Amino acid sequence: MSKKTLSQNLWLRRKDSDVFFEKAKISGFRARSAYKLLEIENKFKILKNNKNIVDLGASPGSWSQVLVKKNLNLSKIKIFAIDIKDIDPIEGVKFIKKDISYILEGNNYFKKNSLDLVLSDMAPNSTGHRFTDQAKASNLAEKALIFAINYLSFNGKFVCKLLGGNNDRLIINRAKEYFKTIKLFKPTSSRKESKEIYLICLSFNNLQ
Ligand SMILES: C[S@@+](CC[C@H](N)C(=O)[O-])C[C@H]1O[C@@H](n2cnc3c(N)ncnc32)[C@H](O)[C@@H]1O
Repeated sequence: MSKKTLSQNLWLRRKDSDVFFEKAKISGFRARSAYKLLEIENKFKILKNNKNIVDLGASPGSWSQVLVKKNLNLSKIKIFAIDIKDIDPIEGVKFIKKDISYILEGNNYFKKNSLDLVLSDMAPNSTGHRFTDQAKASNLAEKALIFAINYLSFNGKFVCKLLGGNNDRLIINRAKEYFKTIKLFKPTSSRKESKEIYLICLSFNNLQ
């Protein structure tokens, strides 16, 4: 088979990602990111048997939509969506408009040992400068980890987007001190050219 040109490769990649965009539109998801969480769920089975879930960086809301879909008995669970950007209401989801930096500890919303699952798909607005964006993303991931450590209950789970920043290795090593199982996972719905990868942390040990 002949080697593809750069523009052919770009076209194929775009076509690839459009499949998820189209699927999301048809299924009523607000963003194609929904498929990343669905793939994480298929592999790691993290979404069931949780009472209190936090979705960090939730706007426009497709991960929260997946959470609602997967937890049909909404009277038994609480889903909190947090973002600095607004989010159109989702039935069964409580939206908190806050910057993660201001709810890391000692806030009015959560108690210690109260959460079963913390998800973070937070990403900074792109500056167009790769290293700056990656450094900002690492900083958000570190905050998400601190939040998870502060509020997860025993055996809790944490999922966090990483974008290839210099500090990502430190974040992974820190997570290893608190969780029994640590995995890195790249969903097929994540753009191949992106450095995006998800840190999956299972079985939180809050006895540190
Ligand atoms: C990739 S989007 C999340 C998409 C979302 N998971 C979905 O499926 O609809 C990243 C989000 O992180 C949010 N974000 C960035 N910095 C934040 C911060 N400091 N605190 C809270 N959210 C933040 C952005 O506003 C943005 O909405």
